[in-house]
Amino acid sequence: MENKKKKILILDGDPGHDDAIAMVLAAAFKDELDIRAITAVGGNQTLAKTTLNYRKIAALLNLKDVPIAAGRDKPLMTDLIIAPNYHGESGLDGPKLPDPISELSPLSAVELMAKTIKEAEDKVTIVATGPQTNVASLLLAHPELKEKIECISIMGGGLNHGNWTAAAEFNILVDPESMDIELRSGVPVIMSGLDVTEKAYVLPEEWDKFRNDNKVAKVVAEWCDFFYIHLKELGWPGALMHDPCAVMYLVHPEIFVAKDYYVEMELKGEYCRGATVPDYYGLTGNKPNCKCLLDVDREKFVEILSEAVRSFKEAEDE
Ligand code: BDR
Ligand code: CA
Repeated sequence: MENKKKKILILDGDPGHDDAIAMVLAAAFKDELDIRAITAVGGNQTLAKTTLNYRKIAALLNLKDVPIAAGRDKPLMTDLIIAPNYHGESGLDGPKLPDPISELSPLSAVELMAKTIKEAEDKVTIVATGPQTNVASLLLAHPELKEKIECISIMGGGLNHGNWTAAAEFNILVDPESMDIELRSGVPVIMSGLDVTEKAYVLPEEWDKFRNDNKVAKVVAEWCDFFYIHLKELGWPGALMHDPCAVMYLVHPEIFVAKDYYVEMELKGEYCRGATVPDYYGLTGNKPNCKCLLDVDREKFVEILSEAVRSFKEAEDE
Protein backbone atom coordinates (compact mmCIF):
# COMPACT_ATOMS: atom_id res chain seq x y z
CA MET A 1 0.00 0.00 0.00
CA GLU A 2 1.17 3.53 -0.76
CA ASN A 3 2.74 5.11 2.32
CA LYS A 4 1.38 8.67 2.17
CA LYS A 5 2.61 11.31 4.59
CA LYS A 6 0.03 12.53 7.08
CA LYS A 7 -0.94 16.20 6.97
CA ILE A 8 0.07 17.99 10.16
CA LEU A 9 -2.97 19.85 11.46
CA ILE A 10 -3.91 22.67 13.78
CA LEU A 11 -7.64 22.85 14.49
CA ASP A 12 -8.96 26.29 15.35
CA GLY A 13 -12.63 27.00 15.99
CA ASP A 14 -15.55 27.90 18.22
CA PRO A 15 -17.42 24.67 19.01
CA GLY A 16 -20.30 24.68 18.10
CA HIS A 17 -22.00 21.48 16.91
CA ASP A 18 -20.52 21.45 13.42
CA ASP A 19 -17.04 22.42 14.71
CA ALA A 20 -17.36 19.43 17.05
CA ILE A 21 -18.27 17.11 14.18
CA ALA A 22 -15.34 18.53 12.17
CA MET A 23 -13.07 17.53 15.07
CA VAL A 24 -14.59 14.02 15.20
CA LEU A 25 -13.95 13.72 11.46
CA ALA A 26 -10.34 14.92 11.79
CA ALA A 27 -9.72 12.42 14.60
CA ALA A 28 -11.30 9.62 12.55
CA PHE A 29 -8.98 10.37 9.60
CA LYS A 30 -6.06 9.25 11.75
CA ASP A 31 -4.16 7.70 8.84
CA GLU A 32 -4.30 10.94 6.87
CA LEU A 33 -4.31 13.72 9.47
CA ASP A 34 -2.15 14.31 12.52
CA ILE A 35 -3.79 16.80 14.91
CA ARG A 36 -0.95 18.56 16.74
CA ALA A 37 -2.81 21.44 18.42
CA ILE A 38 -6.32 22.72 19.05
CA THR A 39 -7.07 26.39 19.59
CA ALA A 40 -10.35 28.01 20.59
CA VAL A 41 -11.73 31.37 19.56
CA GLY A 42 -14.73 33.41 20.66
CA GLY A 43 -17.55 32.91 18.14
CA ASN A 44 -20.61 30.72 18.50
CA GLN A 45 -20.25 31.36 22.22
CA THR A 46 -17.84 33.18 24.50
CA LEU A 47 -14.21 32.07 24.52
CA ALA A 48 -14.54 30.42 27.95
CA LYS A 49 -17.37 28.23 26.65
CA THR A 50 -15.80 27.31 23.30
CA THR A 51 -12.53 26.42 25.05
CA LEU A 52 -14.29 24.19 27.57
CA ASN A 53 -16.22 22.56 24.72
CA TYR A 54 -13.02 21.68 22.86
CA ARG A 55 -11.60 20.14 26.05
CA LYS A 56 -14.75 18.05 26.52
CA ILE A 57 -14.76 16.85 22.90
CA ALA A 58 -11.08 15.91 23.30
CA ALA A 59 -12.11 13.85 26.34
CA LEU A 60 -14.87 12.13 24.35
CA LEU A 61 -12.33 11.26 21.63
CA ASN A 62 -9.62 10.37 24.16
CA LEU A 63 -7.20 12.91 22.63
CA LYS A 64 -5.18 13.36 25.82
CA ASP A 65 -1.91 14.35 24.19
CA VAL A 66 -3.11 17.12 21.91
CA PRO A 67 -2.54 20.52 23.57
CA ILE A 68 -5.55 22.85 23.68
CA ALA A 69 -5.16 26.62 24.08
CA ALA A 70 -7.56 29.52 24.43
CA GLY A 71 -7.24 32.34 21.92
CA ARG A 72 -8.85 35.69 21.24
CA ASP A 73 -12.08 36.40 23.05
CA LYS A 74 -13.28 38.97 20.54
CA PRO A 75 -12.74 40.13 16.98
CA LEU A 76 -9.84 42.45 16.16
CA MET A 77 -11.93 45.60 15.76
CA THR A 78 -15.44 45.02 17.08
CA ASP A 79 -17.49 43.33 19.78
CA LEU A 80 -18.25 39.63 19.60
CA ILE A 81 -21.49 38.34 18.06
CA ILE A 82 -22.58 34.91 19.37
CA ALA A 83 -25.01 32.32 17.98
CA PRO A 84 -27.00 30.70 20.85
CA ASN A 85 -30.00 30.32 18.51
CA TYR A 86 -28.05 27.58 16.68
CA HIS A 87 -25.79 26.18 19.40
CA GLY A 88 -27.52 26.87 22.74
CA GLU A 89 -26.29 28.51 25.94
CA SER A 90 -23.23 26.28 26.34
CA GLY A 91 -22.34 26.64 22.66
CA LEU A 92 -22.70 22.86 22.42
CA ASP A 93 -26.08 22.04 23.93
CA GLY A 94 -27.50 18.53 23.70
CA PRO A 95 -25.76 15.37 24.95
CA LYS A 96 -23.83 15.40 28.21
CA LEU A 97 -20.10 15.25 27.53
CA PRO A 98 -17.28 13.88 29.71
CA ASP A 99 -15.23 16.30 31.80
CA PRO A 100 -11.86 17.39 30.36
CA ILE A 101 -9.05 14.85 30.76
CA SER A 102 -6.14 17.22 30.22
CA GLU A 103 -5.09 20.63 31.47
CA LEU A 104 -5.53 23.72 29.34
CA SER A 105 -2.24 24.80 27.75
CA PRO A 106 -0.63 27.77 29.56
CA LEU A 107 0.14 29.22 26.11
CA SER A 108 -2.17 31.51 24.18
CA ALA A 109 -3.61 30.18 20.91
CA VAL A 110 -1.12 32.25 18.90
CA GLU A 111 1.81 31.02 21.00
CA LEU A 112 0.70 27.40 20.68
CA MET A 113 0.13 27.71 16.93
CA ALA A 114 3.55 29.34 16.45
CA LYS A 115 5.31 26.71 18.58
CA THR A 116 3.55 23.88 16.73
CA ILE A 117 4.50 25.30 13.34
CA LYS A 118 8.13 25.99 14.34
CA GLU A 119 8.60 22.50 15.77
CA ALA A 120 6.86 20.64 12.93
CA GLU A 121 9.07 18.58 10.61
CA ASP A 122 6.90 19.61 7.67
CA LYS A 123 4.47 22.34 6.60
CA VAL A 124 1.35 22.67 8.73
CA THR A 125 -2.28 22.91 7.62
CA ILE A 126 -4.59 25.10 9.67
CA VAL A 127 -8.30 24.27 9.73
CA ALA A 128 -10.25 27.27 11.00
CA THR A 129 -13.97 26.82 11.55
CA GLY A 130 -14.88 29.93 13.52
CA PRO A 131 -14.13 33.64 13.17
CA GLN A 132 -10.61 34.00 11.78
CA THR A 133 -9.31 36.08 14.71
CA ASN A 134 -6.69 33.63 16.03
CA VAL A 135 -5.35 32.87 12.57
CA ALA A 136 -5.06 36.54 11.61
CA SER A 137 -3.35 37.27 14.93
CA LEU A 138 -0.84 34.50 14.17
CA LEU A 139 -0.13 35.92 10.71
CA LEU A 140 0.37 39.41 12.16
CA ALA A 141 2.59 38.27 15.02
CA HIS A 142 4.63 35.73 13.04
CA PRO A 143 4.90 36.68 9.36
CA GLU A 144 8.10 34.60 9.23
CA LEU A 145 6.01 31.43 9.70
CA LYS A 146 3.84 31.97 6.62
CA GLU A 147 6.13 29.85 4.47
CA LYS A 148 5.66 26.93 6.82
CA ILE A 149 1.88 27.02 6.51
CA GLU A 150 0.71 24.63 3.79
CA CYS A 151 -2.74 26.21 3.62
CA ILE A 152 -5.60 27.52 5.73
CA SER A 153 -8.79 25.55 5.17
CA ILE A 154 -11.63 27.63 6.51
CA MET A 155 -15.36 27.41 6.88
CA GLY A 156 -16.64 30.86 6.20
CA GLY A 157 -18.11 33.24 3.69
CA GLY A 158 -20.09 32.48 0.59
CA LEU A 159 -19.72 33.83 -2.90
CA ASN A 160 -23.38 34.49 -3.53
CA HIS A 161 -25.20 35.09 -0.26
CA GLY A 162 -24.98 35.17 3.52
CA ASN A 163 -26.72 33.48 6.42
CA TRP A 164 -26.45 36.15 9.12
CA THR A 165 -27.14 39.10 6.87
CA ALA A 166 -28.24 38.87 3.25
CA ALA A 167 -24.62 39.35 2.22
CA ALA A 168 -22.51 37.85 5.01
CA GLU A 169 -21.92 34.46 6.57
CA PHE A 170 -21.61 34.29 10.39
CA ASN A 171 -17.89 33.45 10.86
CA ILE A 172 -16.79 36.18 8.47
CA LEU A 173 -19.33 38.74 9.60
CA VAL A 174 -18.09 38.38 13.18
CA ASP A 175 -14.55 39.39 12.17
CA PRO A 176 -14.18 40.50 8.55
CA GLU A 177 -10.93 42.35 9.27
CA SER A 178 -9.28 39.06 10.22
CA MET A 179 -10.47 37.40 7.02
CA ASP A 180 -9.12 40.37 5.08
CA ILE A 181 -5.68 39.88 6.68
CA GLU A 182 -5.80 36.21 5.80
CA LEU A 183 -6.81 36.77 2.17
CA ARG A 184 -4.00 39.28 1.71
CA SER A 185 -1.39 37.15 3.50
CA GLY A 186 -0.16 35.16 0.51
CA VAL A 187 -0.87 31.90 2.36
CA PRO A 188 -3.12 29.60 0.27
CA VAL A 189 -6.71 29.78 1.54
CA ILE A 190 -9.32 27.10 0.88
CA MET A 191 -12.79 28.44 1.52
CA SER A 192 -15.70 26.17 2.34
CA GLY A 193 -18.35 28.85 2.06
CA LEU A 194 -22.12 28.55 2.12
CA ASP A 195 -22.03 27.74 -1.62
CA VAL A 196 -20.84 24.26 -0.69
CA THR A 197 -21.69 23.83 3.00
CA GLU A 198 -25.42 24.31 2.46
CA LYS A 199 -25.24 21.36 0.05
CA ALA A 200 -23.44 19.19 2.62
CA TYR A 201 -26.37 18.27 4.82
CA VAL A 202 -27.17 15.04 6.62
CA LEU A 203 -30.80 13.91 6.81
CA PRO A 204 -32.33 12.76 10.12
CA GLU A 205 -32.79 9.22 8.78
CA GLU A 206 -29.10 9.20 7.79
CA TRP A 207 -27.78 10.11 11.24
CA ASP A 208 -30.31 7.71 12.82
CA LYS A 209 -28.51 4.90 10.99
CA PHE A 210 -25.31 5.39 13.02
CA ARG A 211 -26.93 6.59 16.26
CA ASN A 212 -26.53 3.30 18.11
CA ASP A 213 -23.19 2.25 16.69
CA ASN A 214 -20.84 3.41 19.42
CA LYS A 215 -20.41 6.07 22.10
CA VAL A 216 -19.02 8.75 19.76
CA ALA A 217 -21.66 8.03 17.11
CA LYS A 218 -24.43 8.46 19.68
CA VAL A 219 -23.07 11.87 20.67
CA VAL A 220 -22.70 12.94 17.02
CA ALA A 221 -26.32 11.90 16.35
CA GLU A 222 -27.47 13.89 19.39
CA TRP A 223 -25.46 16.94 18.25
CA CYS A 224 -27.26 16.62 14.90
CA ASP A 225 -30.62 16.39 16.76
CA PHE A 226 -29.88 19.66 18.57
CA PHE A 227 -28.33 21.53 15.64
CA TYR A 228 -31.30 20.56 13.47
CA ILE A 229 -33.89 22.14 15.78
CA HIS A 230 -33.18 25.66 14.51
CA LEU A 231 -32.21 24.57 11.00
CA LYS A 232 -35.55 22.76 10.62
CA GLU A 233 -37.40 25.93 11.63
CA LEU A 234 -35.53 27.66 8.80
CA GLY A 235 -36.73 25.02 6.33
CA TRP A 236 -33.56 22.95 5.84
CA PRO A 237 -34.07 19.23 5.15
CA GLY A 238 -31.21 18.17 7.42
CA ALA A 239 -28.27 19.28 9.59
CA LEU A 240 -25.85 21.46 7.62
CA MET A 241 -22.29 20.17 7.95
CA HIS A 242 -20.63 23.56 7.44
CA ASP A 243 -17.41 23.02 9.38
CA PRO A 244 -16.79 19.35 8.49
CA CYS A 245 -16.37 20.46 4.84
CA ALA A 246 -13.10 22.21 5.79
CA VAL A 247 -11.73 18.88 7.07
CA MET A 248 -13.35 16.61 4.48
CA TYR A 249 -11.77 18.51 1.57
CA LEU A 250 -8.26 17.85 2.89
CA VAL A 251 -8.75 14.09 2.68
CA HIS A 252 -11.41 13.74 -0.03
CA PRO A 253 -11.00 16.63 -2.51
CA GLU A 254 -12.39 14.35 -5.23
CA ILE A 255 -15.97 14.71 -3.95
CA PHE A 256 -15.91 18.52 -4.25
CA VAL A 257 -16.04 21.03 -7.10
CA ALA A 258 -13.59 23.89 -6.50
CA LYS A 259 -12.54 27.02 -8.38
CA ASP A 260 -9.76 29.52 -7.76
CA TYR A 261 -10.82 33.16 -7.53
CA TYR A 262 -9.45 36.43 -6.28
CA VAL A 263 -11.70 37.14 -3.30
CA GLU A 264 -11.93 40.48 -1.56
CA MET A 265 -13.49 41.37 1.79
CA GLU A 266 -16.19 44.00 2.03
CA LEU A 267 -15.25 45.82 5.24
CA LYS A 268 -17.57 48.81 4.97
CA GLY A 269 -20.88 48.94 3.15
CA GLU A 270 -24.32 49.77 4.45
CA TYR A 271 -25.70 46.32 3.60
CA CYS A 272 -22.70 44.20 2.70
CA ARG A 273 -20.08 44.37 5.49
CA GLY A 274 -18.66 40.86 5.84
CA ALA A 275 -19.39 39.79 2.26
CA THR A 276 -16.69 37.77 0.49
CA VAL A 277 -16.61 39.23 -3.01
CA PRO A 278 -15.27 37.02 -5.84
CA ASP A 279 -13.72 38.47 -8.98
CA TYR A 280 -15.40 35.98 -11.34
CA TYR A 281 -14.22 37.65 -14.53
CA GLY A 282 -10.69 38.66 -13.53
CA LEU A 283 -11.70 42.34 -13.62
CA THR A 284 -9.26 43.40 -10.91
CA GLY A 285 -6.30 41.86 -12.70
CA ASN A 286 -5.29 40.15 -9.45
CA LYS A 287 -4.21 36.52 -9.31
CA PRO A 288 -6.55 34.14 -7.40
CA ASN A 289 -5.94 34.14 -3.64
CA CYS A 290 -8.55 31.59 -2.66
CA LYS A 291 -9.71 28.12 -3.64
CA CYS A 292 -13.48 28.33 -3.35
CA LEU A 293 -15.46 25.13 -2.88
CA LEU A 294 -18.67 25.32 -4.86
CA ASP A 295 -20.33 21.92 -4.82
CA VAL A 296 -20.11 18.49 -3.23
CA ASP A 297 -21.40 15.00 -3.93
CA ARG A 298 -23.74 14.94 -0.92
CA GLU A 299 -24.31 11.20 -0.87
CA LYS A 300 -20.59 10.43 -0.88
CA PHE A 301 -20.06 13.08 1.81
CA VAL A 302 -22.65 11.42 4.06
CA GLU A 303 -21.25 7.96 3.34
CA ILE A 304 -17.69 9.00 4.31
CA LEU A 305 -18.86 10.95 7.36
CA SER A 306 -20.98 8.01 8.57
CA GLU A 307 -18.09 5.57 8.10
CA ALA A 308 -15.78 7.93 10.00
CA VAL A 309 -18.21 8.13 12.90
CA ARG A 310 -18.61 4.34 12.90
CA SER A 311 -14.82 3.84 12.98
CA PHE A 312 -14.70 4.73 16.66
CA LYS A 313 -16.21 1.35 17.46
CA GLU A 314 -12.90 -0.52 17.32
CA ALA A 315 -11.14 2.10 19.41
CA GLU A 316 -13.76 1.75 22.12
CA ASP A 317 -13.56 -2.03 22.12
CA GLU A 318 -9.76 -2.02 22.54
C1 BDR B 1 -20.77 28.81 10.75
O1 BDR B 1 -21.31 29.54 11.84
C2 BDR B 1 -21.32 28.76 13.00
O2 BDR B 1 -22.53 28.87 13.69
C3 BDR B 1 -21.03 27.34 12.57
O3 BDR B 1 -20.27 26.67 13.57
C4 BDR B 1 -20.25 27.49 11.29
O4 BDR B 1 -18.87 27.60 11.54
C5 BDR B 1 -21.84 28.68 9.67
O5 BDR B 1 -22.21 29.95 9.22
CA1 CA C 1 -17.90 27.08 13.68
